[in-house]
Amino acid sequence: MRDISLHILDIAQNSLAANASLVEISVEETSDYIEVTIKDNGKGMSEEELKKVTDPFYTTRKTRKVGLGLSLFKQNVELTNGSFSIESKPNVGTVVNAKFNRHSIDCLPLGDLLETFITLIILNPDTDFVFKHKSPVKDYQLDTRELKTVLNEIKINEIPVINWIREDYNG
Ligand SMILES: Nc1ncnc2c1ncn2[C@@H]1O[C@H](COP(=O)(O)OP(=O)(O)OP(=O)(O)O)[C@@H](O)[C@H]1O
Ligand SMILES: [Mg+2]
Repeated sequence: MRDISLHILDIAQNSLAANASLVEISVEETSDYIEVTIKDNGKGMSEEELKKVTDPFYTTRKTRKVGLGLSLFKQNVELTNGSFSIESKPNVGTVVNAKFNRHSIDCLPLGDLLETFITLIILNPDTDFVFKHKSPVKDYQLDTRELKTVLNEIKINEIPVINWIREDYNG
């Protein structure tokens, strides 16, 4: 994965595959670290599944034997001497947390976080998302549940709405 935003897009696919109706993605940047949290209310995992999940040879997918998303994400954060954790409860949901150490030469760039957010909305208009991006110069939050209440008949993935989201993010 080239950057952290592409990892986020990939990890969020797991939440969608787990039938989450709400996915909360938070990115907090300082000069020292980039911390990513992806929380969903999907079907979750048993303790046994959870133990295997960062093992690249574990996957429940049928099309290929090796699931790579979580193990690659974990590897990339651990390369920076950062921290990785995953918690999950059946029928409650899953939380993935990764803290990249920015002082490491192996720290991936954040990439285009707005494009990750927009891609998720465009492809999953019926799923709700809370997006947060905090940095020394930014304190952004979008809750699609709130946005949908003001949109009425307009779909959240229509171009004027997406343009508004872009402008709101770029402030
Ligand atoms: N948010 C989640 N909710 C429920 N189960 C999850 C979640 N994330 C991962 N899993 C389980 O962990 C397995 C491994 O996930 P991972 O992303 O590493 O691989 P994958 O999604 O199977 O394949 P790939 O990401 O390479 O396409 C998944 O197949 C799924 O069973
Ligand atoms: Mg995956």
